[in-house]
Amino acid sequence: MRIDVLTLFPQMFEPVLSASIPGRARAAGLVDWFVHDIRDHANNKHNKVDDRPFGGGPGMVMVCQPLWDAVANAESQAPQVGPTTRILLTPQGRPLTQTLVEDLASRPRLLMIAGHYEGVDERVIDALDPLEISIGDYVLSGGELPAMVLIDAIVRLLPGALGHLDSAAQDSFSHQHEEHGRLLDCPHYTRPREWQGREVPEILLSGDHARVDRWRLERMIERTRERRPDLLEADPADSPANPASRPVQPDED
Ligand code: ADE
Repeated sequence: MRIDVLTLFPQMFEPVLSASIPGRARAAGLVDWFVHDIRDHANNKHNKVDDRPFGGGPGMVMVCQPLWDAVANAESQAPQVGPTTRILLTPQGRPLTQTLVEDLASRPRLLMIAGHYEGVDERVIDALDPLEISIGDYVLSGGELPAMVLIDAIVRLLPGALGHLDSAAQDSFSHQHEEHGRLLDCPHYTRPREWQGREVPEILLSGDHARVDRWRLERMIERTRERRPDLLEADPADSPANPASRPVQPDED
């Protein structure tokens, strides 16, 4: 997979992404990312990439031209990789879910635009027609952290990215139960068997794998019911087990 990232703060990416699982996945050749500075495409003397909003109001708006040219430049590189899925990180976007992450992880090439200032001129968004994605109902200073969140979530799903084959499938939200849908993860325990007077649940020491599996599923359902009942009532359209669930189209939104 190839990921191009367009940002005004390219220096933010390498320290975060080179550590941990994305860094290992890149070293293993599963993914590579290329971070482009939108400012390099400003065709004015002061490398200005923002301007005051028409209609007045606070804040600045990212102008069309540098972003448009930065996208064209990034997409002209390595065209053999396959079609690009364009993504704009914005609080106005579609909420990020594990289903959406799984869909994006199957694509050969992603281009992520980290918006900044008060927003991006709507005309360049219309022209680029990206999938607009939000990582939650709160406002960050820019799309850089959301882009890194998205990259991390995607890369760990690439085959071979995780040490243990099953560990991605076991994560909270990934556990797709045919009856219950997406579930939170169960509690985990390791040695010692007793710590500060607290015992490991007896059943986990039983060696009876069928009973352990049943116990874990029960805890997952219980936790989800207690902490995130909304997941149990989630729209089945967001479930990959549901035939009505359809992949996100590149030109959607
Ligand atoms: N940019 C600023 N806040 C954001 C959010 N919550 N999600 C995606 N992009 C953003």
